[in-house]
Amino acid sequence: MCGIFAYKGKRENASEIVIEGLKHLEYRGYDSWGIAYKSKAGIVVEKRVGKIGELDLNTIQLPTSNTAMGHSRWATHGTVTEENAHPHFNEDQSIVVVHNGIVENFQELKNKLIKNGHTFKSETDTEVIAHLIEDYMEVGFENAFKQALKELKGRFAILAMHRDEDKLMAARRGSPLIVGKGKSEYFIASDIPAFLEYSREVMYIDDNQMVVLNDTPKFYNIETGEKITKRIVEIGWNAEMAEKGEHPHFMIKEIKEQKDTIARAINQNEKDIMKVANEINNAFGTYLIGCGTAGKVCLAASYAFSEIAKKHVNPVVGSEFPSYKHFIKKGSLVIAVSQSGETADTLEAIEVAKQKGAKVISIVNVEGSTMDRESDFSINIKAGPEKAVASTKATTAQLAILTLLAYACVDRLKEGRKLLIETASKINDMLNPRYEQHIEKLAEKLRGHESMYVIGRAMNYAMALESAIKLQEVSYIHAEGFAGGELKHGPIALISKGTPCIALVANDETKQDILSNAIEIKSRGGYIIGVSPENHEIFDYWLRVPDAGNASPIVNIIPVQILAYKLAVMKQNNPDMPRNLAKSVTVK
Ligand code: F6R
Repeated sequence: MCGIFAYKGKRENASEIVIEGLKHLEYRGYDSWGIAYKSKAGIVVEKRVGKIGELDLNTIQLPTSNTAMGHSRWATHGTVTEENAHPHFNEDQSIVVVHNGIVENFQELKNKLIKNGHTFKSETDTEVIAHLIEDYMEVGFENAFKQALKELKGRFAILAMHRDEDKLMAARRGSPLIVGKGKSEYFIASDIPAFLEYSREVMYIDDNQMVVLNDTPKFYNIETGEKITKRIVEIGWNAEMAEKGEHPHFMIKEIKEQKDTIARAINQNEKDIMKVANEINNAFGTYLIGCGTAGKVCLAASYAFSEIAKKHVNPVVGSEFPSYKHFIKKGSLVIAVSQSGETADTLEAIEVAKQKGAKVISIVNVEGSTMDRESDFSINIKAGPEKAVASTKATTAQLAILTLLAYACVDRLKEGRKLLIETASKINDMLNPRYEQHIEKLAEKLRGHESMYVIGRAMNYAMALESAIKLQEVSYIHAEGFAGGELKHGPIALISKGTPCIALVANDETKQDILSNAIEIKSRGGYIIGVSPENHEIFDYWLRVPDAGNASPIVNIIPVQILAYKLAVMKQNNPDMPRNLAKSVTVK
């Protein structure tokens, strides 16, 4: 869950390029950072605790260099200290590494290395890698790197440099790593936005592959040593898409982008949509898998498939899917939903599905991500870079695609497209400054509360769960989502005078029931915030949304996203980088 980035080329400000690039990867980890660059005196390392985004370049001396690498950390092994921040050296500071992932057998390796006379400065698993390479140095840096990789257990993305060699080494097993090609210069990063300013031509490093970057990159299979030829892929994102622009935070920028992203998401090749719909129709059983917000999208979609396509699909949380493996067989279909395409739990679910002979389709935002490449087929949601940790525009784009697929399953693709295009245009009208101010007033009322609840039914039950995630992760207010009907089975005991409760009311067959549930809460003193196309007497505060029929989850979640954002800002939380969370969860 860390961000790594390296530069090698003709420019002389390599370390500055790496620092600026790391700022784009900060969403992957932001408790500490560090860079290593080559200078005449050897390898120089600079590390700090804190966010790299807060670094003022004038406060740091960066001598000229044309090779540098860096890391933005999200602590797994070892507390947040300068010693534990990457890069990590070996004994004589000739080898330096940065690493994303976990070396599962690090203790075993560390014990062995200590016996061989190595001493360690940090508590990290990463430092072991630098010492391990050193142990093999008699076969040369490149071979020593290869040998060391063979001993590592677990998922990783690693970069390494040697003081006396004009080479950058990189390797991947399970954690993302991409090479960007510039003019006589190369970049290696965990994610594309790090180098978008310089290059849109990329080469994807696959699992169990390594790169030796000298003047040109050479790719090898880690296990067999076989040389690999790579295709250069041009990517559709540009540098501007990954910038905040006039917005104070990425989260609000991305919320507002939903004016466009829904229409963009459903602008898919009809053949592709029909292909996936046919797979669903012909599958022995279809599983929708995703984690966190993506998991809630899968749950909402299961109701949409029931309602629109009269079809049963099974929504399963990514980390729980392996326990269903006993049902999976040839003929089963797994649809993985993910923004990043790198979530470890979802990737593991895919691995299990493939082992059992199931077909895998992914619905992802990041083109070329592991999920995209590991699947038999994939649909890109085209939301553009999503950098705030809390998912917003990717969520609604995923909902849009899955709703469209439900229509496509019953040959009503045109009707689905029409509904979603109309919904996109209604969202455009809804997202205006007055609407934001209205939600800000509500945030003022709610900011002092310790808990709030969200209720919904059917598709909007899933959105109640998603609403709770949004509120929790950026406002740090305790929030829980419930199915409206479940209240009387326990949770209603939590309601007392003034407890805020958001009711997601869709204009469908669940309307009367969810309103009755809201009345039950109100009669126990609850403060009812209604998210609904119509105002109802029982609402203490009304957040108007357009009537979007089967696309109601898309419109209902948007005011909650704005509310969560406003609460975060009011409480002086950084909505883009909430505490304890990272955007891409690449560890299990
Ligand atoms: C919450 C959030 C997370 C992600 C989850 C899966 O706002 O963003 O819950 O949805 O970590 O990530 P992806 O979609 O990248 O697989």
